[in-house]
Order: sequence, then structure tokens, then C-alpha cells
Amino acid sequence: MKRIIFFLLSGLFSFTVSFGQITGSAHDFSGQSWATGILCGVCHTPHNANGTVANAPLWNHEVTTSSYTLYSSPTLDATVNQPSASSKLCLSCHDGTVALENFGGVTTGTNFITGNALLGTDLSTEHPISFVYNTALATADGELYDPSTQNSGLGSTIANDLLFSGSLECASCHDVHNTQNNSYLLRIDNTGSALCLTCHNK
Ligand code: HEC
Ligand code: HEC
Ligand code: HEC
Ligand code: HEC
Repeated sequence: MKRIIFFLLSGLFSFTVSFGQITGSAHDFSGQSWATGILCGVCHTPHNANGTVANAPLWNHEVTTSSYTLYSSPTLDATVNQPSASSKLCLSCHDGTVALENFGGVTTGTNFITGNALLGTDLSTEHPISFVYNTALATADGELYDPSTQNSGLGSTIANDLLFSGSLECASCHDVHNTQNNSYLLRIDNTGSALCLTCHNK
């Protein structure tokens, strides 16, 4: 019953409550001259997808071939690897080596990412990515929640909601599709460091 009332109310208020979506977000390129009207196709294709990155979701964008300087620190317990999985897909625009319009077989683009969104290939100054975050890491660190039991606040555990095959990736913190409609495409709004405190027990 509660569900039905919520459903009716959300219908009534649908003009004031904004639900997140990719349209109008930083990842909506459909207004660009090189992607006129194309929303999903800059990144995905239903057929003949690029299969070079493991578990990539029907990928249509040219994939980066860069190797990266990785994050390291004396207190880091995790084993950080070269970016893989979906992080490699993000970096296929965000490392600045692949043109934005290089999708669907195009390789001659000239528009590269600029400004704050350009991460480059030196990831030593970014939060570590592409490493396994599991119970053993939480125990070794002592100030991390156990991802297999700790609630993420999004409905299930950290492992289910924020990790990809047990690994922490760019998409652990960001939702490329802007589903939550938070600033910086964050999965969890970071007011009061809420995103950080989801995993770090500080
Ligand atoms: C800027 C690139 C980009 C655009 C544009 C984009 N996606 Fe994605 N999509 C990704 C990346 C990267 C992943 C893998 C990371 C993840 O799952 O969060 C992904 C994952 C997915 C997945 C599998 C995981 C999930 O969320 O269910 C589906 C389905 C999907 N996208 C559909 C779409 C559709 C439909 C559109 C257009 C409305 C779209 N995407 C637009 C980059 C994009
Ligand atoms: C097709 C190229 C492309 C891919 C793939 C891509 N991005 Fe982006 N992204 C961009 C561009 C271009 C911008 C900057 C738009 C602007 O300057 O307004 C951007 C902006 C962002 C921003 C800033 C948003 C804001 O509101 O300020 C974040 C965060 C981001 N991307 C994260 C990601 C993550 C995480 C992935 C992978 C899961 C990803 N992107 C994949 C092209 C891409
Ligand atoms: C641990 C969480 C976390 C991870 C992992 C992460 N980010 Fe972010 N990112 C953030 C937060 C929080 C912000 C908001 C701005 C800030 O606090 O600096 C942000 C901001 C950004 C921005 C916008 C920068 C700006 O100033 O406009 C981009 C682009 C971005 N991230 C891309 C990425 C990409 C690509 C990856 C993977 C290589 C990644 N992020 C991994 C948390 C993360
Ligand atoms: C999805 C879980 C998750 C989120 C969200 C997250 N982190 Fe992390 N973070 C980790 C894990 C796991 C490590 C690896 C810790 C280790 O191996 O010592 C880490 C590493 C770090 C490190 C490096 C620690 C060292 O010893 O060098 C810092 C600093 C850090 N995170 C800060 C942040 C901040 C700030 C935020 C919010 C913007 C954030 N984290 C969000 C899981 C997360």
C-alpha cells in the first residue's frame, strides 16, 4: 500500500522532483556537431562491439592504449593494477589520448577532452582504481568497512552496489549515466564527505 501511495505521489510531483538521466548531463553529446542526435552510440553499439576490454558493455568508442603511472603510498594496502574493465573505458576519453568523436570505427577525430575533466595518464594523484576491495583488504587496513557486509545506502552492500567483480573502479564513485542526478555524476552525494565515509571508517 505504501508503495502505491508513493507511486501516486511521485506521479503528482514529477514536475518538481528531478530524476537523474544522461540527457542534459556532461555525457550528453547529442548536441555536438560530431554526434548530432546520438545519445548512447558515442559509447555503445548493439552490434559489432569492441571486445578488447573484458566485460565491456557493447563498447563502441575507440579504446585507449596508454599505460599509466599508478597511485602508490607507504600506507596503501591494496595492490593497484593498470586500469582495466570500465575504468579503461572512462580513460578512453578522460586520459586525453583518444578523440571524443572516435566512435563507430572513426579514428580521425580532433576534439580531445580539456579542462578539469582531463585526468591524463598520471594517475598517481587520483584516488586509486582497478584493485580488489574485499574482506581481507578491510581487515588489513583496519579503517575500511567490510564491503561484503557493509550497507552502501543504495539498497545493498558496498560489494553489490559499488564494486565491479569485486574491484573498485571509476564507476564505483561515478555513474556515467547520471542516474542519481548528483553533482559530478556521483553515485552518492558527497556532502559531509558521505561518499568517502561509505567505505572509509574514519
Ligand atoms: C559517455 C559514455 C556513455 C554513454 C553516452 C552511455 N553509456 Fe552506458 N555505459 C558506459 C560505461 C563506461 C559503462 C560501464 C560502467 C558502468 O556500468 O557503470 C556503461 C554501462 C552500461 C550498461 C550496463 C550496466 C548498466 O548500467 O546496466 C547499459 C545497459 C548501458 N550502459 C546502457 C546505456 C544506454 C541505453 C545509453 C544511452 C541512453 C548509454 N548507456 C549511454 C558509458 C556510456
Ligand atoms: C566518450 C567520451 C567519454 C567517456 C567514455 C567518459 N566520459 Fe566522462 N566526460 C566526457 C567529457 C567530454 C566530459 C566533459 C564535459 C564538459 O566539459 O562539460 C566528461 C565529464 C565527466 C565528469 C564531470 C561531470 C560534471 O558534471 O562536472 C565526470 C565525473 C566524468 N566525466 C566521469 C566519467 C566516468 C567515471 C566515465 C566512465 C565510467 C566516463 N566519464 C566516461 C567524456 C567521456
Ligand atoms: C573514490 C571515489 C572516486 C573515484 C574512484 C573516482 N572519482 Fe572522479 N571524482 C570523485 C569526486 C568526489 C569528485 C568531485 C570533485 C572533487 O571532489 O574533486 C570527482 C570528480 C571527477 C571529475 C570532475 C573534475 C572536475 O573538477 O570537474 C572527473 C572528470 C572525474 N572525477 C573522473 C573520474 C575518472 C575518469 C575516474 C577513474 C579514473 C574517477 N573519476 C575515479 C570521486 C571519485
Ligand atoms: C567504494 C569505496 C570507497 C570510496 C567511496 C572511497 N574510497 Fe578511498 N579507498 C578505498 C579503498 C578500498 C582504498 C584502498 C585502501 C588501502 O589499500 O590502504 C582507498 C584508498 C584511499 C586513500 C589512499 C590511502 C593510502 O593509504 O594511501 C585515500 C587518501 C582515500 N581513499 C580517500 C578517499 C576519499 C577522500 C574519498 C571520498 C572522495 C574516498 N576515499 C572514497 C575505498 C573507497
